[in-house]
Amino acid sequence: MTAPAPGRFISLEGVDGAGKSTHVASIVEALRARGRRVVATREPGGTPLGETLRALLLAEPMAHETETLLMFAARREHVAQVIAPALARGDWVLCDRFTDATFAYQGGGHGVPADFIAALAQRIHGDCNPDVTLLFDVPPAVSRERLTRAAAVKNRPLDKFEREAQDFFERVRAVYAARARAEPHRFRVIDATRPLQDVRAEVAAIVTAL
Ligand code: TYD
Repeated sequence: MTAPAPGRFISLEGVDGAGKSTHVASIVEALRARGRRVVATREPGGTPLGETLRALLLAEPMAHETETLLMFAARREHVAQVIAPALARGDWVLCDRFTDATFAYQGGGHGVPADFIAALAQRIHGDCNPDVTLLFDVPPAVSRERLTRAAAVKNRPLDKFEREAQDFFERVRAVYAARARAEPHRFRVIDATRPLQDVRAEVAAIVTAL
């Protein structure tokens, strides 16, 4: 029997309100239409323990290091239980956020040293990194407006991260941009200020090319 064709690991990133989660369903559909088996998942979360940690992370105030460690605690379980087994089976993994988010939010947003995050990343998931990362880029003023509107429509309060000030999101965005510049082969930077159908068309073209 021949080994399955290797699966690919795709992550979606961007500041809150960039609209990345809107595209998960259409990406899954496009890949499945091409005969790929796809596991769609998210961080923090993706396992029962990870989802419990997510609820705490999105609500409870805590030290920045605690937040960083809990992100990696959730990630440790997620990689071992979901991501690595899926890739080993030859499935594609579509993950709404991964370690780039920790560099951007805890590192850029909260000032946790990048070498601390890099050491945890190496220890927790080693070489298990996304092959491709779609970065949905918008200026924080735009994402703030979208977030506030969406929260009002859905009648839900903003979570702990979504309530951060604009300068926090400026720093988050700057770290994402720097990471994209440092790894141009992995990142696809998408201008997410454009109308939804334009962004969707670009995402579809990227997925087709993969
Ligand atoms: P998000 O992905 O925006 O989910 P939704 O689309 O349902 O709003 O929410 C996850 C939040 O967690 C987001 O504010 C970013 C934050 N986060 C970090 O701060 N660090 C991390 O490592 C990860 C994975 C997420």
